[in-house]
Amino acid sequence: MIPHGFIQDLLSRTDVVEVVGRHVELKKAGINFKGLCPFHGEKTPSFIVSPSRQTYHCFGCGAHGDALRFLTEHHGLSFIEAVKDLAQSTGMVVPEDDASPAERAQAAQQRERESSLSDVLTRASEHYRRQLKGSPRAVDYLKRRGLTGEIALRYGLGYAPEGWRGLASVFPRYDDPLLAESGLVIVQGADEGKPEAEQKRYDRFRDRIMFPIRNVKGEVIGFGGRVLDQGEPKYLNSPETPVFHKGRELYGLFEARTGLRQKGYALVTEGYMDVVALAQLGFPNAVATLGTACTDDHVSKLLRFTEQVVFSFDGDAAGRRAAGRALEAALPYASDTRSFRFLFLPPEHDPDSYIRANGAEAFEAQVRAAVPLSRQLLEHAAIDCDLATAEGRARMLAQARPLWNALPEGSLRLQLLSELARAGGVPVPELTGLWQSQSTRDRSPRREADDDGRPASDDAPGRPRWRREAAARPTPGRRVAPRSPEDRAVQMLFGEPAWWDRLDPPEHHLLHELAAPHGPAIAWLERDLAEHGPRPWAVLRQALAADDSLPAESRALADGDALPDACFEDLAAALGLLRLRELDAALDRLAASDISSPEQIARYRGLSEERRLLRERQRELSQRAPAD
Ligand code: UTP
Ligand code: MN
Repeated sequence: MIPHGFIQDLLSRTDVVEVVGRHVELKKAGINFKGLCPFHGEKTPSFIVSPSRQTYHCFGCGAHGDALRFLTEHHGLSFIEAVKDLAQSTGMVVPEDDASPAERAQAAQQRERESSLSDVLTRASEHYRRQLKGSPRAVDYLKRRGLTGEIALRYGLGYAPEGWRGLASVFPRYDDPLLAESGLVIVQGADEGKPEAEQKRYDRFRDRIMFPIRNVKGEVIGFGGRVLDQGEPKYLNSPETPVFHKGRELYGLFEARTGLRQKGYALVTEGYMDVVALAQLGFPNAVATLGTACTDDHVSKLLRFTEQVVFSFDGDAAGRRAAGRALEAALPYASDTRSFRFLFLPPEHDPDSYIRANGAEAFEAQVRAAVPLSRQLLEHAAIDCDLATAEGRARMLAQARPLWNALPEGSLRLQLLSELARAGGVPVPELTGLWQSQSTRDRSPRREADDDGRPASDDAPGRPRWRREAAARPTPGRRVAPRSPEDRAVQMLFGEPAWWDRLDPPEHHLLHELAAPHGPAIAWLERDLAEHGPRPWAVLRQALAADDSLPAESRALADGDALPDACFEDLAAALGLLRLRELDAALDRLAASDISSPEQIARYRGLSEERRLLRERQRELSQRAPAD
C-alpha cells in the first residue's frame, strides 16, 4: 500500500511530457505537445500531451491519463511498478506504510530474489547467444528453417551446447541456489532429501536452440529450448519460477511492442517458430502462448497494447479445441470497441509453414478472412448440434448461454442475443425469459462457470451479470432518486467501485472529462481503486472528505449517499444519457459549421449512427430496469 500523499508528491515532481517523450516523439504545438499516438496506429498525430494539466490525451482512440497511467498502459507495468519506476527517476523512495518491519524485509527480499533470478537468466541468455555463433550446426539449423541473422539477433536466439555443466563456465559457483531456482540447473536427489554431497547438478538445456522469453519490461524470465533434430521433448521450457508463469506470459510480446502499434492488431499463435517466422516476413505483431491454452490473463495482458486481436490456429482438431479456449478467454473482454477474430489455417499448416510456403500476401489474406468473435460464438455453440431438429436447436441454446453470459454489456451482446434467438428458433423475449427463470432457479452463483471446469470468483469478468445483480437487489422495484446523470453515475461508482473495470475506455474518458465536482472525483476514485482495490463507500467517503488536494466541491460528494440499490444497468443508462448529450452537442456544432468536406459528412453520419444505436440501447435499458 502506497500512501495517497506520496503519489501526489510524486506526480507533482514528474513531468508527463518528459515521461511520454521518452517513448513518443513529441513536437511543440502551442502550449501543448503533439505526436503519433502510441496506443493505436496512426499516420497524422492526434496525441496531445498537456504540460499544464500533466495529462495526455488521444483524439483518435481516446487514450487518456497522467504519467502513471502512461507507464501502466504503455509499458504494461502494474500500478505499483509504475510508481516505483517514476520514484526511481525522481530520486524518491517509496514508503511502505502499514507493513511491519518483518513484512517490509520480506518484500525487499522477494524483490531482490526476483531481480537476481532475471540477472542470472539474462547472463545465461548472453552465454547461449555467444555459443550460437560458435556452433555451425546450430546456425545451419536456423538457416534451414529460413531464419536470418537479423531476426535471430532481434529475438536473442541462442544455442545451449551439448555437455552437462556448460553453465559452470559462466557462473563462478555452479551450486549457487539461484541457478536451480531459475530452472537453469536441475538438482537430482534434492526431492528425496539427499545430503548436498550426494545431489547431482546438471544443465537443464543441452544441445538445444534457445528462445529467451522476456517479460514486458524486457527482462529474461525463462527459456524455450528446441531440439535440433529428432528427440523428445521437441521443446523444453523453463519450469514455473517466481518470475515465470506460463499461463500469464506471452512469447514475443516485448519484441512485438512496436509491431503492435504499426499493425494495429496482435496475432496470437501457438509456437515460438511461428512468432519469429512471422516477424521476419512482415508480421512483427505476433506473439505465442507458451504451449498452454490461451487464458484470461493472456488476453488482458495483450489488451494493454492493442484493442484488436487475431487468434491463429493450426488447422487440425487440436487447433479447433484451442480456438474454443481462446473464445472463452476473450468473451469477457469483448466490449464494443474491441475486436477479436479467429484465423484457421489449412489442416497441414501452422503460421510458420504457411507463410513460408505461400508468402506474406497470402497470409495477409488469411488475416483479412479471419472469423469475427460473433460468428465463432455461434459456431462454437452449435458444436454437435443438428439445427434441423428442435432438440438440436435447444442444445445449441443451452451451450450458448454461458458464452453469451460472459459477454460484457454492449450492443454486441444485444445483437448476439437476437442472432441466437433466431438460430435457436425462439423469439427474443421468450429466450430472455427462459434464461432468466433458469438462472433464478439455479441458486449457486458458481455453477455456470464450473460447468466447463473453470473456476470463477464473483469478480471474475466472466460471471453472469444480470443474475447476480438481480439477486443482490434487496428491495426490487425501489427506484433511484431523480438526480442529474452525472450525479448518479459518480454516486453509483463510489457505491460499487468494482464497476469501474467493467466500463470501456470511452466511458472512462467521458467520466474523466466531466466538469468539477464530478471529473476530479472520478480521477480520485480511479487512483484509489488502483491503490487499494474496490473499497466500501463508508471507507471511501472518509478518504474523499479528507483529501484536500481535491476541490472542495468534489470533497463535498462525501456528504451524499452512494445509491445502494443501483444495478450495473442503471450506471450504463446514466452513462448513455451523458454520451447522448455529448453526441447531440457535437452534431449541433457540426450542423452549425455547414458540413461540406467528405470527412465532415462521414463524421456526421458516424455520430448520427452512434446516436441511433445508443437511443435503442437506452430504450432497452429503461424497459428492463423497472421489471427488476
Ligand atoms: P508444435 O509442436 O506445433 O511446434 O508446438 P512448432 O511451434 O510448430 O515448432 P516447430 O515448427 O516444429 O519448430 C507448438 C508450441 O507448443 C509448445 C511450444 O511452445 C511450441 O512452440 N510445445 C510443443 C512444448 O512446449 N513442448 C513440446 O514438446 C512441443
Ligand atoms: Mn511449426
